Amino acid sequence: MEESGETALSKELLVDPLTREKSGESKLIFVIGKGGVGKTTISILIAHVLSESRKVLLVSLDQAMHLLEYLSIEKPMKKYTIKENFEAMQVDVRELIKRESRDYVSLLKSVMPGLSIVSADNVVESLKHNPGFEEEVYLRFISNLFSEQDYDFIVIDTPPTGVTYRILKLPRLYLFWFDELIKLRKRIINLRYTIARTMGKEIEPSDPVLMRLHKLKDEYSSLLNHLRDPSRTSYVSVLTPEPLPLFETKNTIKFLEDMKTKISLIIINRLLSKESAESIGVLDTQKSVLAELKELACKRNVSIISIMHHTVPPRKLDEALKLLELLEKITCTS
Ligand SMILES: Nc1ncnc2c1ncn2[C@@H]1O[C@H](COP(=O)(O)OP(=O)(O)OP(=O)(O)O)[C@@H](O)[C@H]1O
Ligand SMILES: [Mg+2]
Repeated sequence: MEESGETALSKELLVDPLTREKSGESKLIFVIGKGGVGKTTISILIAHVLSESRKVLLVSLDQAMHLLEYLSIEKPMKKYTIKENFEAMQVDVRELIKRESRDYVSLLKSVMPGLSIVSADNVVESLKHNPGFEEEVYLRFISNLFSEQDYDFIVIDTPPTGVTYRILKLPRLYLFWFDELIKLRKRIINLRYTIARTMGKEIEPSDPVLMRLHKLKDEYSSLLNHLRDPSRTSYVSVLTPEPLPLFETKNTIKFLEDMKTKISLIIINRLLSKESAESIGVLDTQKSVLAELKELACKRNVSIISIMHHTVPPRKLDEALKLLELLEKITCTS
């Protein structure tokens, strides 16, 4: 199928802000936004467009697993080839939790050999229901994606915004705790050493727990650096021209700035033509959302791309690709 000049131009618009800072290593692209704004659809578009010239994996962390239906994927947790250079995988968080729990049992046994198998299993069983465990499991999964060798880009269709913020906040929180735990462990080791000396006993100088804490601290520092580095991670905020999605985009901008990184691209989806917006009485709302968005983005030198509302909501890949013809760049001067 011959593609229109319009589509080719649209693709350029989408690719440029995401590839500006090339690193040669796989780059993660997080697609963030309020429920229903079009995250899954736009993640598919981004993955498709990038796969024209690079190798791409699309990963959906969406708990409703809509990607399965959208891309006619049979099962979660398996990679499927969608087209040349474009693979996709739907994550099932329950399955991730199961796998991580098994790893925790072996970790607990290795650092605390005195703990019996039965109680290690119990600890993990209760951990699974702890608030925050789901976010931890997602974070580990994301962390592994940074070391994927097979792709240039990994596009991530994110879970609800609140969960995404909590996942991205975890490394900083952990680093704080690792520092405290390392201090505490060093005090324990010093005390043990003093007691052993006064009793005239030899003590093993290396401590496996302290070594493990240092290793974890290094791993999370490197993860945080990757998440902050625009050559390793891009953040795309998706919204529709309505006040609540705009509010979430503002929150995302602020959240990323607090994290010492920045948004790479804003996509305003399902924009209505002037006539349609007027006929359903939302023209003023749409105008004010656009004006506010432009002010936010232009000040920060962030590109905004608009995608018009299509009368037929896309449900399959080929229908989603039709949206490329409805894609335009919003300039700061217009
Ligand atoms: N530009 C568009 N025009 C018309 N319909 C669209 C457009 N973009 C997305 N849609 C439709 O909007 C609905 C929501 O899109 P999508 O599932 O991509 O959003 P989402 O943000 O991933 O939602 P969720 O939060 O449920 O995961 C879908 O029915 C999709 O077909
Ligand atoms: Mg979705």
